[in-house]
Amino acid sequence: MDRRRFFKHSAAMAATASLGTIIAQPVRASRGKRPNLPMPELLDVTGSGRLTLNARSGQTAFAGGPSSSTLGYNQDYLGPFVRARSGQEVAVRLQNDLDESLATHWHGLLVPGEVDGGPHQEIAPGKVWEPILPIDQPASTAWFHAHTFPHTARQVYRGLAGVFQIDDGHDPDRGLPQEHGVDDLTLVIQDRRLDEAGRLDYRLSMFDRMHGFQGDRLFVNGAEQPRGPVPNAVVRLRLLNGSNARIFHLRFEDGRPMHVIASDAGFWPKPVPTEELRLSPGERFEVLVDFRDGREVALMTGPDQNRGGPGMMGVVSNIRSFASGLVEGDQRVLSFHPDGRKGRVDRIPEATGEASWSQPTNFDKRRHFRLDMMLGGMPMMRGMMGGGASEDMPGGGGPSMGINGRPFDMQHINEAVALGSVEHWTIESDMLMHPFHIHGVHFQVLADETGQTPRLENRGPKDTVLVDGRAEIAVRFTQPASKDSPFMYHCHILEHEDAGMMGHFTVS
Ligand code: C2O
Ligand code: CU
Ligand code: CU
Repeated sequence: MDRRRFFKHSAAMAATASLGTIIAQPVRASRGKRPNLPMPELLDVTGSGRLTLNARSGQTAFAGGPSSSTLGYNQDYLGPFVRARSGQEVAVRLQNDLDESLATHWHGLLVPGEVDGGPHQEIAPGKVWEPILPIDQPASTAWFHAHTFPHTARQVYRGLAGVFQIDDGHDPDRGLPQEHGVDDLTLVIQDRRLDEAGRLDYRLSMFDRMHGFQGDRLFVNGAEQPRGPVPNAVVRLRLLNGSNARIFHLRFEDGRPMHVIASDAGFWPKPVPTEELRLSPGERFEVLVDFRDGREVALMTGPDQNRGGPGMMGVVSNIRSFASGLVEGDQRVLSFHPDGRKGRVDRIPEATGEASWSQPTNFDKRRHFRLDMMLGGMPMMRGMMGGGASEDMPGGGGPSMGINGRPFDMQHINEAVALGSVEHWTIESDMLMHPFHIHGVHFQVLADETGQTPRLENRGPKDTVLVDGRAEIAVRFTQPASKDSPFMYHCHILEHEDAGMMGHFTVS
């Protein structure tokens, strides 16, 4: 089924099955002053080599509303921004103070399977996990988040996600801003839904299960559409899409360029300017932006194409927009106001000094992965009969998704890869775009929907690629993973992952 037909079907499904849920969404309250951009202190573990994390529940008020139940690492909602040094070991002590099991994965870290934190490494309530992470990879912005099968989507949505920056000490030589909170800003961008009372809402309708859960309100580091001060200088933004499902199309309202310096897994040889940047769930980019003109400017996002374009899907969007007060179209993510401070960096560097990745020509093996949204047919009837929205995937009458015809099975390892090999993987999707992520590796995109020369977002070292029809990647396997602690590959639309669009593999 192609995307067009899928949208037709799901539009009908939404119109019948989930209209109640959609209509129940509140009309957006008018806004007063914008909140300040929160910029959590950096938890720099470079000196100590120790990282202590407590997963716990808390209470958080969103957009000035009443408290919502949330989850966080060391805090009520979300987690710290950690900075570690390439070449060091980080001894983690993660205590699970939740009343449910939790696995926590280091997304983007090249570490062995036994400390990777996939679903095989669940921590029972009250228990402690103490992995030692050998940080041995290029500088980059990684992150960490809950990875408990099949509860990842809810746990991450409630707040179990933090940032893990890897620094190599050479940013000053590269001419890059690096002062956290001053000219180096980490932005965790997430969409959320608030219910009638203004509380965090995660009731999954059948439409949400199919498309992934999307919210009509945008938060950066936990604050809705905030406003942040910047020096009148060149500023570095570390962008992370921490949404469950929403794909952002970022653009400054005045069209000023973002100079891309890094993708998921490391720096590019030289900055590449772009006016628009697509950022799918799990992906990171680092960009430089010139604020020397002193003008206040907003970073905007366009509509998510996974929610449907013009055509039939527009009908659903319109119903939804009407009900929620959401104007489908561009939305403000946050705004920056230069406050007159002088900055340390006042030009875009010509090069970062990084070597570009050479393209492998020989592959040890080729593999194919087909991302399947509907094993066993459309769940439409079940969804309509079941009706009720619930917080978790299992038992909710949701779709069964998979890869190559199989839903994820903890007991069945899908692939065995040779340590040290380089493989050619082809990933195919239909109906929707799916962000495909692989644990324990960095890869290079060889071809994507645009043909043999990948689009801007697919250049450079990566660990997550948005598959729009088809992508071909070259993957290097440098980390071991046994059958007791295999690596995962999965769709990073978290509702799809929980519905079974995931597999696992050993490396030995
Ligand atoms: Cu960010 Cu397996 O996930
Ligand atoms: Cu990962
Ligand atoms: Cu998916």
